[in-house]
Amino acid sequence: MIDLSVSIGSLKLKNPLLPASGTFGYGTEMMKFYDVNQYGAIITKSLTLEARSGNNMPRIAETNCGMLNSIGLANVGLDTFINKTLDTLQNITTPIIVNIAGSTIDEYVAIARQLSSLRKIKGIEVNVSCPNVKQGGMAFGTDPDITSNIVSSIRKIYDKTLIVKLSPNVTDIGIIAQSAVDAGADALSLINTVLGMRIDINTRKPLLSTITGGLSGPAIKPIALAKVFQVAKSVDVPIIGIGGITSWEDVIEFLIAGATAVEIGSLHFIDPSGPQLMLDEIKNYCRKNSIHKITELTNSLEAENND
Ligand code: DHB
Repeated sequence: MIDLSVSIGSLKLKNPLLPASGTFGYGTEMMKFYDVNQYGAIITKSLTLEARSGNNMPRIAETNCGMLNSIGLANVGLDTFINKTLDTLQNITTPIIVNIAGSTIDEYVAIARQLSSLRKIKGIEVNVSCPNVKQGGMAFGTDPDITSNIVSSIRKIYDKTLIVKLSPNVTDIGIIAQSAVDAGADALSLINTVLGMRIDINTRKPLLSTITGGLSGPAIKPIALAKVFQVAKSVDVPIIGIGGITSWEDVIEFLIAGATAVEIGSLHFIDPSGPQLMLDEIKNYCRKNSIHKITELTNSLEAENND
């Protein structure tokens, strides 16, 4: 028996695979295709206080080895989530983590406060890194003081698991990571999408209505891996690695670099059930390498100058 369980804050997850917010709706869409309870936990699409229809179309564009998105935080809003969406989540037995976003600190706090009283919701992932909104989002998560204010304000009223999702679009992600941890984050998830753009050369128009958007997929995996490695060395909380994970080998790579768990995103648009097939392969790898607990892999990089 290989023990795949990991701990993130006060949450014990049966395995380290989670869907990345925004690639998995509210979990119920995917339930038609396979048992989403196989995930260690699920993470729902960013939730804001009011419902949002998001940015104008087009808000998705393909690239050679990834995709650009500019969804603009389209979501049902807190009231509908609590009064309707939550009912549809009753068959989900794996822990539910809600990703939250806001354009003011008060908005984050108001959402977190209401979610904290819901027994079904086991944790929140605080999105301070959305690249596609004019107010808040990445503008917050690229500033260590604002990040600290948001996280400490939420921490005061939220005592379940609090994860902060970080942007790679900064000079030094270590500084933002430290400010989130000092303010009370239980764990960090990284990286969110990398700012990118595409242009139609015939019309000279951008392929996204917002001109720039967030790049995800295999193109960003090496960037994400390096950031996970950097942050894992500098802070003392679990890291959830995100960025272009499309195979079980990618998962192992992130764990070795310092991640305790991973989130899988763009793969859902290529092969929705792909992540579920990874668990057996991960167990095989552990067996072959005499690893009894998956946590043995975290931070296990063999490098001479790894200090
Ligand atoms: C959106 C995009 C992101 O990359 C993200 O992390 C959150 C939200 C969006 O545009 O909705």
